[in-house]
Amino acid sequence: MSKNIIIVGASRGIGKAIVEKLAQDSNNVILALARNIKKMNHSFESLTNVTCIELDLDSDDIRKKCETAFSELETIDILINNAGVLVNKPFIELSRKDLETCYSVNVMSVMETVQAAIPKMTKAHIVNISSIGGFQGSVKFPGLAAYSTSKAALCSFTELFAEEYKDSSIKMNCLCLGAAQTEMLEEAFPGYEAPVSAEKMAEYIVDFSLNADQWMNGKIIPVSLSTP
Ligand SMILES: NC(=O)c1ccc[n+]([C@@H]2O[C@H](COP(=O)([O-])OP(=O)(O)OC[C@H]3O[C@@H](n4cnc5c(N)ncnc54)[C@H](OP(=O)(O)O)[C@@H]3O)[C@@H](O)[C@H]2O)c1
Repeated sequence: MSKNIIIVGASRGIGKAIVEKLAQDSNNVILALARNIKKMNHSFESLTNVTCIELDLDSDDIRKKCETAFSELETIDILINNAGVLVNKPFIELSRKDLETCYSVNVMSVMETVQAAIPKMTKAHIVNISSIGGFQGSVKFPGLAAYSTSKAALCSFTELFAEEYKDSSIKMNCLCLGAAQTEMLEEAFPGYEAPVSAEKMAEYIVDFSLNADQWMNGKIIPVSLSTP
């Protein structure tokens, strides 16, 4: 069945792999969003069912910008909020700007993106990509106070949204990823080799996005084989 799907944070790493996987089904109509439009246009050049749109989540009027971007689609079936920014710094050195960037991209812009998508959703699944570092009770690492607290806020938002929309057919779930081999992981844990590739992680996220809303809503799920 044809599905209209939005992936935010699609230019590299896991998001890029998600787009490539979903585009294999020619019935899917895909909007791919990120800042690096050149990279997306190049990567997805041969995928006729993918449209790339430039968006900086660390800017004003995200809701309006997303409303404009989403006007390409009549309905939205799946929204994957995959974009994320990492700040890896000792707590004492964190600036206001570091905190604002993390919370703006990882939390506030997700909420605004969802606000923009809701009017086009009847039966839909929203999947938020959080981190195992934001999962309550998980092992924590120094330097990740801004990043991991923002990812914890994303988990909390998932539960709150699901409660508020429980009588609708819009479901929201949150995946707390463990290490997958990407540029972001290299920034967080230089030299560490993850047991999972971006493509393998994308495989799980795609399957979850297409199917899990039949079984769950408002759930925070750890997807991790390793520490970190
Ligand atoms: N890799 C891991 O081990 C791991 C573990 C736990 C959680 N995660 C989470 O999984 C998601 C994907 O991670 P990844 O490792 O694939 O990261 P990545 O390689 O750094 O990719 C991040 C994506 O987010 C986009 N993005 C960042 N800032 C943005 C902004 N201001 N506006 C719009 N898009 C922005 C980037 O695109 P542009 O730069 O082009 O904008 C890029 O497409 C993230 O949410 C991350 O926190 C990853």
